[in-house]
Amino acid sequence: MTTDTMRIFLDTADVATIHDAYSTGIIDGITTNPTLIMKSGRRPTDVYDELADMGIRDISMEVVEPTAVGMVREANKLIEKFGEVATIKVPCTKAGLQACRELANNNVRVNVTLIFSPSQAILAAKAGATYVSPFVGRVDDNSFGGLCLIKDIVNIYQQQSWFQTEVLAASIRNVRDVGRAFEYGANICTIPPNVFEGMYNHILTDKGLELFDEAWKCVEATTVT
Ligand code: E4P
Repeated sequence: MTTDTMRIFLDTADVATIHDAYSTGIIDGITTNPTLIMKSGRRPTDVYDELADMGIRDISMEVVEPTAVGMVREANKLIEKFGEVATIKVPCTKAGLQACRELANNNVRVNVTLIFSPSQAILAAKAGATYVSPFVGRVDDNSFGGLCLIKDIVNIYQQQSWFQTEVLAASIRNVRDVGRAFEYGANICTIPPNVFEGMYNHILTDKGLELFDEAWKCVEATTVT
C-alpha cells in the first residue's frame, strides 16, 4: 500500500536490490536514470518489466531524445507498454518542459529532473510536472546548500498554493539528508539503497538490544520451571 505523504522511492535500477527493499513494504516507488540503467547492465525495458511485475506502481523512466517531439514519441512508447506504472522523466530544458506540457495535457505523470534552482522548479510546475527533482547532493558538491533548495521550492509552492506538483528530493547522499528534506517539506525522497539500509541503524538500538538479550538470558536462567 502506498501512502500519500512522506513517500520513499529507491534510486536504483538494480532489480535484486529493489526486490529485497520492496519486500519491506516501505518503498513507494522507483527512480531510474541513464547512469543507473548503465550500471545495471540491462536493457531499460527489461528492468521496468521486472519492476512492474513486482507490483511497483510508480517507476520513473527517463527519456533521452534531444527534442520535445522525440521525447514525447519515446514517452508514448513507454506509456503504451507500461501504462500507469510509468512516470516519464524529462530534463529541465526547454525541450524537456515542452514535452512535459504535452504529456501532462494527456494525463501522463511527469518527473522533471536535473532541477538546480527555484526558477527551474517554477517553470516545471507551470509546464504541468507531477514531480520536480531537485538534486540535493549535486548542489552540495558545488558548495551551495542542497537542502536550502528543497526549502525554497517548497516555500514557493506553498506561498502560491500550488499543490499539483510534488517535490521529490533527489541525489540524496546520506541518512541525515532524508530527515531534513522531509522536514523542509519534500513530499518524496528518492534514495540509494545504501542510504535506505542506513536509515534502520542506530548504535543505541544495537546497544539496547544487547542489554535486552542479556536481561532475557537472566530471566530464563532464574525462572526455569
Ligand atoms: C534522480 O532521480 C537521480 O536518479 C538521482 O537522484 C541522481 O543522484 P546522483 O547525484 O547521486 O547521481
